[in-house]
Amino acid sequence: MPGTHEGRIAVVTGAGRGIGQGIARLLAARGARVGVLDVDPALARDTAAAIGAAAIGLACDVADPAAVDAACAAVERAFGTVDILVNNAGVSPKHQGRRADIHEMDPAEWRRVMSVNLDGAFHCVRRLAPGMIAAKRGAIVNQSSVAGKTFYGDYPLTGVHYAASKAGLIGFTKHLAGELGPHGITVNAIAPGRIDTPLMRGVASEINESIRRDTPLGRLGTPEDVARAVCFLTSDDAAFVSGQTIDVAGGWMIT
Ligand SMILES: NC(=O)c1ccc[n+]([C@@H]2O[C@H](COP(=O)([O-])OP(=O)(O)OC[C@H]3O[C@@H](n4cnc5c(N)ncnc54)[C@H](O)[C@@H]3O)[C@@H](O)[C@H]2O)c1
Repeated sequence: MPGTHEGRIAVVTGAGRGIGQGIARLLAARGARVGVLDVDPALARDTAAAIGAAAIGLACDVADPAAVDAACAAVERAFGTVDILVNNAGVSPKHQGRRADIHEMDPAEWRRVMSVNLDGAFHCVRRLAPGMIAAKRGAIVNQSSVAGKTFYGDYPLTGVHYAASKAGLIGFTKHLAGELGPHGITVNAIAPGRIDTPLMRGVASEINESIRRDTPLGRLGTPEDVARAVCFLTSDDAAFVSGQTIDVAGGWMIT
């Protein structure tokens, strides 16, 4: 579907690798110009360079409101008013390939997960919503997780900080959809299942293989699977879709 995003200007956070990179690439392939934000400057730069003139790579820790402000200003200078925001940056700390249970969880780790996964979305929306409101147009997608909706049972994948941050993004999405809808802005979330990225490879390969077997569609997801859903939610095809959380999980852990 080339051209569905012609003239659109997007910011994708955590876009230097994994799912975010897939989203940035597909938005650009469909005609958008894209700000590739990542806490790792080299990943941001290399991803933007691979996309070409439609992308600008910027170092940005989404937990830092001043860094968000500077990066968004740079995107606006390069391309103009941003009308698509994908809050994708997220962390899921592991300890020897498994989650920390709550009694062994360091408060600093809890705070960092909240700061990146939840506060980061707040900082980015707060910075970019005024431009969307003035333009009376915008689409925001928040990267939640199936972990924000259900417990993984025997799979030791994610700590309670991660689950709480991803559940928080679902409430954030619903209320923001109500607040920004009157300004012509849609707000939705995606809840990926198991997607094959560097983050997912932080646990033993047998765990991921077991999830693949438990997934009705018989495979793990790819960044492109999630990117296609983001393209739908930010396209005119989804003009009347708002406040929703869509699982992109191959039927795994249907929530
Ligand atoms: N991979 C999965 O199975 C899966 C499942 C559900 C949800 N998710 C969510 O999807 C998103 C992307 O995950 P992924 O698998 O591609 O992860 P990843 O670790 O492969 O990539 C995440 C990217 O975000 C960047 N990043 C980390 N902290 C940042 C910060 N403070 N500011 C800006 N950028 C930062 C990293 O440098 C990296 O490039 C995350 O929000 C994750 O929680 C992933």
